[in-house]
Amino acid sequence: MKKTVLTFKEAKKTGKKLTMLTAYDYSAARLIDPCGIDAILVGDSLGMVCLGYPDTLSVTMEDMLHHTRAVARGADHALLISDLPFMSYQASVYDAVKNAGRLVQEGRAEAVKIEGGGEVAEQAKAIVRAQIPVMGHIGLTPQSVNMFGGFKVQGKERERAKRFIEDAKRLEDAGVFSIVLECIPGALADIITQAVSVPTIGIGAGNRCDGQVLVYQDMLGMLPGFQPKFVKAYENLSDAFQSGVRGYIEEVENGKFPSEEHTFLMDAETVKDLIT
Ligand code: KIV
Repeated sequence: MKKTVLTFKEAKKTGKKLTMLTAYDYSAARLIDPCGIDAILVGDSLGMVCLGYPDTLSVTMEDMLHHTRAVARGADHALLISDLPFMSYQASVYDAVKNAGRLVQEGRAEAVKIEGGGEVAEQAKAIVRAQIPVMGHIGLTPQSVNMFGGFKVQGKERERAKRFIEDAKRLEDAGVFSIVLECIPGALADIITQAVSVPTIGIGAGNRCDGQVLVYQDMLGMLPGFQPKFVKAYENLSDAFQSGVRGYIEEVENGKFPSEEHTFLMDAETVKDLIT
């Protein structure tokens, strides 16, 4: 069944937990989509996960369009959401609408996500007015990493926490269909979830949100090295991946691959003709 923004609306009513994972290319979308996921996010985290940047700030509209198009070709059922990257919506409402439109028209996204609360409410409102569903994103918003002084949990202090609650309400008033809550205390995520009528999707925000999102490479243990506290690896694919690569190297080097099974055969008479 095709998932849409109505799936999100219904889930908030019934209490069914929403599931979302990132994907950045066609093959990942082909694997994730049939599993029954509610939404696939082409996150600007692709800058860090796929392009090797230290943060998401260098990701461009062209990057997002390129990856969104690829995911769209592999995702038939999940709601496809694409991130508006840094500086594609902050400077003006015009930029926001224009670039959201590009993600839908050229990228085939079905919704867009923007980071920030009250300061981007006008942009969210204008994008929704242009008939494009918007997902909000508050808490540790990675595009603000330089303002935060690093990737740190946000909203532990009273004033900051109160501002996030206000931000969520401003986004709700602007017409967003859902809000991502990233790296905030579980108790604050719970308060926000109860304060708004749209579903909240948590990442590092405890289990009282209306749904959860993770970067799929983190969730499958595909990236060796540091893992944030909120990540759970359901598989250890980096070991399986590297064991496959090592097996290939070994078999090519010792002549075991390709065997006859992987080789196209030719009529013996023709071979004889060719060598005589
Ligand atoms: O870019 C991204 O992947 C995200 C999610 C982690 C919410 O914004």
